[in-house]
Amino acid sequence: MLDYHTRTAHILSRIDALAAISEDATGATITRRFGTPAFVRGRDLVQSWFEAAGLKTHLDGIGNLRGRLASPRPGAKTFVLASHIDTVVNAGKYDGPLGVLMGLNLAESIIQQGIELPFHLELIAFSDEEGVRFHTTYLGSKVVTGAFEPALLQKTDADGITLAQAIKDMGGNAASLAADALPAEEWLGYFELHIEQGPVLWENKVPIALVTAIAGQQRVELTWTGMAGHAGTVPMPMRQDALAAAAEFVLAAEAFALAHGQSLVATVGQLRIPYSASNVIAGQVVHSLDLRSPEASQLAAAYAALQAQAGAIAARRGLGLDWQLVQYTAPVACDRELNRLLGQAIAASGYEVDGLVSGAGHDAVPASAVAPATMAFIRCYKGISHNPLENVEPADVAAALAVAERFLLELKIKHQ
Ligand code: HGY
Ligand code: MN
Ligand code: MN
Repeated sequence: MLDYHTRTAHILSRIDALAAISEDATGATITRRFGTPAFVRGRDLVQSWFEAAGLKTHLDGIGNLRGRLASPRPGAKTFVLASHIDTVVNAGKYDGPLGVLMGLNLAESIIQQGIELPFHLELIAFSDEEGVRFHTTYLGSKVVTGAFEPALLQKTDADGITLAQAIKDMGGNAASLAADALPAEEWLGYFELHIEQGPVLWENKVPIALVTAIAGQQRVELTWTGMAGHAGTVPMPMRQDALAAAAEFVLAAEAFALAHGQSLVATVGQLRIPYSASNVIAGQVVHSLDLRSPEASQLAAAYAALQAQAGAIAARRGLGLDWQLVQYTAPVACDRELNRLLGQAIAASGYEVDGLVSGAGHDAVPASAVAPATMAFIRCYKGISHNPLENVEPADVAAALAVAERFLLELKIKHQ
């Protein structure tokens, strides 16, 4: 049986092969948004690896890659190992693919050793966790957990293409989404390996931690409507400058989050000015707001306070404001029993058992609605993510692989 360092080298070589597939034909940046040809090419490569490992694979209606290792036990439930293979724009190599390819290595090892599990193992590469193209996250895992709302099919991307059309264009099948769900009664549990995407493990010099909770998030789209005008002729006091109003709100959101300590974060990551020109006063600005907190009450209070502040800015400046909630996901707690087993595996592997709250969202959020779910975080370079500088130490991946394998073994013993 191969040692963990050799297995890790194999995983990281696959990470590099997948990272070479991007919407950016120059290969200078990594981008594989849901449903794009680059996404499909990347998924095809991963599917070839699933099949070479001996997993029975299929693509579901929303383009998730599903690989199954059946248990001989009659009536066995299904334990899901998963993460995502879609990316943000100009992404790092590891956010998503590392969890999928470590899960694949675990499944490969089980198959090669001829181990029979008392549960079916389903390895899933979700097709859209990031929500970059349609500005709504967890499309893939919502289908598998039966939480997909058909109204989402009408959402459009920046080119006006609906989700329904994007599914069709990539060979998916919007009519099968309900049937693609793994029925709630069949779930045994969910486990996801993922880079931390934050600085705690890096600062604490710890390779791995279990996740105790995942922060809730509100995604909002704001549209400020003022009056386009000539930059040279409209006196300052007479302007209804949509960009100045949006800028005031961006700084207000930052100040609000800073005033509310570590747990609340507010980000405006996307802003566009239709018909922008250097000599035109912006008549309209559309931008995002991403609000997160592990406490539902703090998230709700921040949402209300910032909506009120936006309204006051618009009123004072004589602008129109459209505030649209795009997505809300409540904070979730990870499963205590799975975390007891995971903590045992971490301790037995010789590491301190640390528990972290995830500020990043993950497919474990929809999974936690139908099954006991938890995650393990792997230290990443300075906590950097959603950035090409994203990186991991092979030794940390090897450590996490050993812990995850021990965790699966403990699950096997528990459910014998
Ligand atoms: O935005 C997030 O938290 C995750 O990267 N989708
Ligand atoms: Mn991710
Ligand atoms: Mn991400």
